[in-house]
Amino acid sequence: MTATTAAPLAGSRPAGPRHVALIMDGNGRWAKQRGLPRAMGHREGVQALKRTIQAAPDLGIECLTVFGFSTENWARPEEEVSDLMGLVRSYVASDLNRLDREGVRLRILGRRRGLPSDIAAIIERAEAQTANNDRFLLQVAFNYGARADVVDAAQKHIDRLMAGEPVGPITEEALQGNLATSAAPPLDLIVRTSGEQRLSNFLLWEAAYAELVFQDILWPDYGPQALAEAVAQFGGRERRYGGLQAAPARVAG
Ligand code: IPE
Ligand code: IPE
Ligand code: MG
Repeated sequence: MTATTAAPLAGSRPAGPRHVALIMDGNGRWAKQRGLPRAMGHREGVQALKRTIQAAPDLGIECLTVFGFSTENWARPEEEVSDLMGLVRSYVASDLNRLDREGVRLRILGRRRGLPSDIAAIIERAEAQTANNDRFLLQVAFNYGARADVVDAAQKHIDRLMAGEPVGPITEEALQGNLATSAAPPLDLIVRTSGEQRLSNFLLWEAAYAELVFQDILWPDYGPQALAEAVAQFGGRERRYGGLQAAPARVAG
């Protein structure tokens, strides 16, 4: 048995998920219901994100990966794209130092190419400032697409091979180690809000044996209680990984 599949000693660790991914959907509908511009939905969505991050460690979660902007979201009107970029600037400006003090390591998943240059610089700075923190891992997927990430991981392998590095053949472990999420524990749970039931090109590789929870709540209304409900649903699941017996809900690491 390897370290990642070893059964934990009974009662030695919480049964909840270590790594939770959130598809934060429904900002636009939240705003529409109130006769507000979509930008207001996104702004409230940032508040929901802050509440949710604060609640995660108390639920035993060690890592949150949140979907902020997909490679497909460039198809939205220019004004909305620019609102979303603006929210990254203001979020990092207002929260980076506090997250750093709280021991949060921030990582941004997604292609830097194509982002406004000041956003790319903000991301670099936030990652560098928090690189040595180990209390909690917050991964924000921004300009992220799971297919693109797998392609990039394969390309990295090829580049190393061409450079004469002894990387060997492509294996699942090698490819996984090149993914944007390589610093995170195995993905346990994916939550999508707003009632939609699809992955929209999020964490396709990592989702292989993750549990899925779909909640009807619109993202700007999300917070500690909704997250606790998702974790409770996870607690009722039986994970078998292709075998016949339930594996521990949470793997050691
Ligand atoms: C999710 O909310 C946030 C982003 C995709 C950036 P949406 O903007 O997709 O909201 P709906 O789905 O239109 O309600
Ligand atoms: C997924 O939501 C992307 C984010 C939450 C950032 P979308 O609203 O873009 O997904 P689709 O278009 O409904 O599949
Ligand atoms: Mg949506």
